[in-house]
Amino acid sequence: MAYSIFRPILFALDPERAHHAAFAALDAQATLGLARVWAGQLPAPKPVTLMGLSFPNRVGLAAGLDKDARHLRGLSQLGFGFIEVGTLTPKPQPGNPAPRMFRLPEHEGLINRLGFNNGGVEDAVKRLTARDVDVPVGVNIGKNAVTPIENAVDDYLIAMRAVYATADYITINISSPNTKNLRDLQAPDSVAALVTRIVREGEALTKSSGKRKPIAVKIAPDLDDSMVGDVVSAIIDAGADAIISSNTTISRDGVTGHAYAAETGGLSGAPLTQRADAMLAKVVKAAATRVPIIGVGGIMSVADAKRKIDIGASLIQIYTGMLYRGPGFVGELVRGLHQK
Ligand code: FNR
Repeated sequence: MAYSIFRPILFALDPERAHHAAFAALDAQATLGLARVWAGQLPAPKPVTLMGLSFPNRVGLAAGLDKDARHLRGLSQLGFGFIEVGTLTPKPQPGNPAPRMFRLPEHEGLINRLGFNNGGVEDAVKRLTARDVDVPVGVNIGKNAVTPIENAVDDYLIAMRAVYATADYITINISSPNTKNLRDLQAPDSVAALVTRIVREGEALTKSSGKRKPIAVKIAPDLDDSMVGDVVSAIIDAGADAIISSNTTISRDGVTGHAYAAETGGLSGAPLTQRADAMLAKVVKAAATRVPIIGVGGIMSVADAKRKIDIGASLIQIYTGMLYRGPGFVGELVRGLHQK
């Protein structure tokens, strides 16, 4: 199977329709165990233990592709070492009106302003509980659009309680550009208060359930240089177990002049690579090995993935790279990172 044959067909469709068509094909293949073919020959697992979890390899799926945890079987057959679902919000919500996703093929980029379209935590928990995959599954949570930003913590707590039993780790998403004022939660004082409250809830849930679930915090690549150190310290001092760097960017560096450059939303893929790498380097320096860092943003090749590890990421995640390179990209990265 060659993705080069399918890509022009998928790219002829509106991006959201292509997304559904690709997943329909993957799910059909997965039922028969055939999606494994995309992964190719994978090296014997070289597990890494981080946050108390064992990862068979360092290549993960970033949040947003399988928001509602509907495609775990197929995704795991592609060779991922871990999968992050979500962003899930307490209540279901439709997200922003379409069109809300724009390809920039000339730049291998994507702009999206989906706005956390998802079926809500309760619905996803049913599938998460019934899942049959053997890699860690993280659950990324956020706030509903209608919840005032002052009450954001309530939404994170509701979502956290709902997913706690079934998540292997929980990601606090405070960096999507598509939910009004969400990124204000990254200000050092705000993030300190939010993560402290969430970690305290985690301790209570650990006590009542007998299981501890690590907490990761996902940040934007657009934080002011002068703020990064304080934000990272605030997150770690509040007790988070990992930092995910980073989400999409609101910058249009590298794509100015493109017909879609003025569309509102977060930019991902190749135009994000440099910015995400620069942010990762700052986060790694500020974290000073106190917690593992998960590197995301603009991984379009094995070289990009290796560079994230060289900068100091313990794990990586991909999203847009898979849209451009296809489902075989996961296996390619796993093989490419195997010697690292
Ligand atoms: C995303 N991303 C994202 N992140 C998140 O924490 N919650 C989400 O719901 C989403 N949704 C989402 C939708 C779409 C269409 C895209 C392209 C991205 C961000 C994603 O997880 C990742 O951080 C960035 O896309 C950067 O990585 P790539 O795409 O350059 O590999």
